[in-house]
Amino acid sequence: MKSLLLLGALLGLAGPLAQAQTPKRTAFEPGRPWPDNHGVHLNAHGAGVLYDRGRYYLFGEHKIAGPKGNTAQVGVHCYSSKDLYNWQDEGIALTVAPEGSGSEIQKGCVLERPKVVFNKKTGQYVMWFHLELKDQGYAASRTAVAVSNKATGPYRYVRSYRPNAGQWPLGFKEEWKQPRPGEQDLKWWTPEWRQAVADGLFIRRDFGPGQMARDMTIYVDDDGKAYSIHSSEENLTLHLSELTDDYQGFTGKWTTIAPAGHNEAPALCKKDGKYYLITSGCTGWAPNAARSFVASSLWGPWKQLENPAVGPEADSTFRSQSTYLLPVAGKKDAFIFMADRWTPKNPIDGGYIWLPLSFEGDQPRLRWTDRWALGAFDQPKAKPTVNQ
Ligand code: GAL
Repeated sequence: MKSLLLLGALLGLAGPLAQAQTPKRTAFEPGRPWPDNHGVHLNAHGAGVLYDRGRYYLFGEHKIAGPKGNTAQVGVHCYSSKDLYNWQDEGIALTVAPEGSGSEIQKGCVLERPKVVFNKKTGQYVMWFHLELKDQGYAASRTAVAVSNKATGPYRYVRSYRPNAGQWPLGFKEEWKQPRPGEQDLKWWTPEWRQAVADGLFIRRDFGPGQMARDMTIYVDDDGKAYSIHSSEENLTLHLSELTDDYQGFTGKWTTIAPAGHNEAPALCKKDGKYYLITSGCTGWAPNAARSFVASSLWGPWKQLENPAVGPEADSTFRSQSTYLLPVAGKKDAFIFMADRWTPKNPIDGGYIWLPLSFEGDQPRLRWTDRWALGAFDQPKAKPTVNQ
């Protein structure tokens, strides 16, 4: 077979032959290499999934080998699948601009956590992502949008935002709009400082230029309204912001979630009319214990629950960090927790942890399993009762 592959490669047939080599997958194997149709480990980190007309589309950060891969060298990679186990390479959906072009998404920028949604009104696919401008570390804290009329792209870059410039969040009290003497000198993490954060310390600071936007996700509710949920205020507080009808901008209606809670990697789903949010703490590429929240309205109040993960390695979320909660098409209340096992020394090797999300009352739960399939979501059938 080796010689056949060699022959295939020589004849330029590596793709089709390798494809024949890639056995059809029938299960998820969290943390294991996950080959695409060419036998190459999926390259879609910080990913999200769009379900469109019977097909799933996976979008994620394309990483290259070596530490340089922690910045965007290529763009956003797209794969498609009918069954969620077997992914077909659809190539680069959004390509970074050439270095030196002056584009906000030029090669070397940081382009993370892409999420794509379909807008029924415009018929366009809308991609949002976290953008950091080249050579500025994580200081720019912007969220950016690109559009396409095909799910797989190519996506056209539209613009980036510091969201909600000049807009106070819902319920922001009049007396919070003025700075308080000495508040900038408060010691971080003290109760007084936490209170000051909840009362708008950073919101006031960024009111003019717009709020910071780092780790993010996009959520489209049943009524077609879309929201951006992003880490803001130096990663201290999550902001939930309503998007315009075309999903390409902000309406100015927004709220905070868990002020000073230090959450990132937000992932959201809805079950039985309640919203569930899974996040992580903020420890960069190193994993930490996940958090979970529930609310009856996206506008809150949000109630913090437990670490959804239980069992060995729950304190590091099985060495991973959340990126998306994927509703399985055609199965009620079936959500896949998608997470990244980052490998910043060689980012291309990053692994994917996909686990079934279960619920104990309101509490979302994650349990490790080496291998599982979508059948895990099927309710055990009630035993037939025998009438005597
Ligand atoms: C993580 C974040 C990642 C990436 C990383 C950089 O906390 O979730 O998306 O931004 O920090 O250190």
